[in-house]
Amino acid sequence: MATGDRKSLPLPLPLPPPRLPGPRLPWLGHAVPFARNPVAFLGRARERAGNVFSFRLLGQPVTFLCGRAAHEAVFHADESVLSPREAYRFMTPVFGPGVAFDAEPDEMERQIGHLLPALTSKSLAAHVDTMRQEVEDHLRTWQNSGEADLTETMNEITVSVVTRCLLGEEVSSRLGPELPRLFRDLEAGIRLAGLLDPGMPLPAFRRRDRARAALGQVLGEVIAARRASQGPHSGPRDMLTTLLTARTPRGEALDDTTVVGLLIGMIFAGQHTSAVLAAWTGALLLSHPEHLPVLLREQEETMRGDGPLTGTLLRRMHHLEYCVREAERLHPPLVVLIRKALRDFTHAGHLVPAGHLVMVSPAVSHRLPEVFHDPDRYDPGRYAPGREEHTAPYALIGFGGGRHRCVGTAFAYQQVKVIWSVLLRTFDLSPGHVGCPAPDYSTFIPGPRAPCTVRYRRRVPV
Ligand code: HEM
Repeated sequence: MATGDRKSLPLPLPLPPPRLPGPRLPWLGHAVPFARNPVAFLGRARERAGNVFSFRLLGQPVTFLCGRAAHEAVFHADESVLSPREAYRFMTPVFGPGVAFDAEPDEMERQIGHLLPALTSKSLAAHVDTMRQEVEDHLRTWQNSGEADLTETMNEITVSVVTRCLLGEEVSSRLGPELPRLFRDLEAGIRLAGLLDPGMPLPAFRRRDRARAALGQVLGEVIAARRASQGPHSGPRDMLTTLLTARTPRGEALDDTTVVGLLIGMIFAGQHTSAVLAAWTGALLLSHPEHLPVLLREQEETMRGDGPLTGTLLRRMHHLEYCVREAERLHPPLVVLIRKALRDFTHAGHLVPAGHLVMVSPAVSHRLPEVFHDPDRYDPGRYAPGREEHTAPYALIGFGGGRHRCVGTAFAYQQVKVIWSVLLRTFDLSPGHVGCPAPDYSTFIPGPRAPCTVRYRRRVPV
């Protein structure tokens, strides 16, 4: 065949993704193994079918894509092709109509833009002290020695931190002890059934709606009081202040529905995820105690001046940061990220048909041996200069990537670092259980399965 003829050969047509062999109940699809352990299900299926495959979930066709090239393609796809808005419809009852994923993509981008001044490094530095205070207040309730549940501890601390830094002091003082339950009910209202209809009459959805209404009411009253007082808010600059001073392109203040929706959305996006990351950071560290001396030395050296904890000092705690990052890699709080294909989408010679849910999984991708050396091993040193395994583009995706990359990444890292910096300096710590707990997939954001406890002894007894 002449070379000229070869040029005119048609390109091979993209093939549909291989389908996983179906279970006996076609509508239910693979919902049962997926709900039981999505990471094991997807990981095992990938070993058999490769980096692109499809399956059914409650009547919904899903295509799973894995690998750095796939992440880049999904995170940068045009929203008219792969839509987060359509995929995350089940979040509308939390954010409220017309807010975040329920808004048109350009409007969502504008809304997220209003949050950004509260998340700059300067704004975050101003929160270091609030975060430290909340952690210390919580730890004051501990005895001189004892054992504490890691997941519960991290949940309580992050509820207080996130409430004060994002919603403001008035909400903390008005809802106080009710807040952990309200936040838990919001998070527990995200379930697989929401893919079908987040308005179904399920008890978990009713509790989600009641929690949303209770938070919305208090926030509405706090907003009205702040607007009525007219002058600048006298407390520290929380996210609420930022949103009340924000202006639309037409120079108008944001309406209350948008402010309330964005704030509740931020709580939803940032509280339980941070609690779980903080709990995994500790669970992994305590089950690999050989790393503790390095961290303790780093704390001593960084805090030698006896001054207060600051953003600058936190940034010098490199080993602590590696440990948080290793927790993000091994146990990312969001195990799957999704988009809805509104049009046919081609990747790696496969055609994903319009109508499919497109799924990537940080939890599966973070264990690829071609991306992370000896991926099942706990090895915080993989991020140190000279190795820096996370710097390969789209390798570490615990906070997503591309246009929808998490805007709260620095807030979350700062919060987890403050928690562990204070804990490490105040107590001698050891694990209260043997080995590292397995993930608890009974919730949308899987933390370590109970029992996951820490034994502590106060360095300076009180
Ligand atoms: C450990 C804690 C956190 C984790 C693991 C996390 C993870 C993520 C991920 C994976 C995404 C991308 C979702 C996707 O592409 O489908 C995301 C988006 C987002 N996160 Fe976070 N997040 C955390 C904390 C926070 C915090 C503290 C905030 C706010 C203060 C926040 C606000 C947001 C927002 C607003 C988005 C949507 C951004 C957009 O679509 O433009 N997150 N997060």
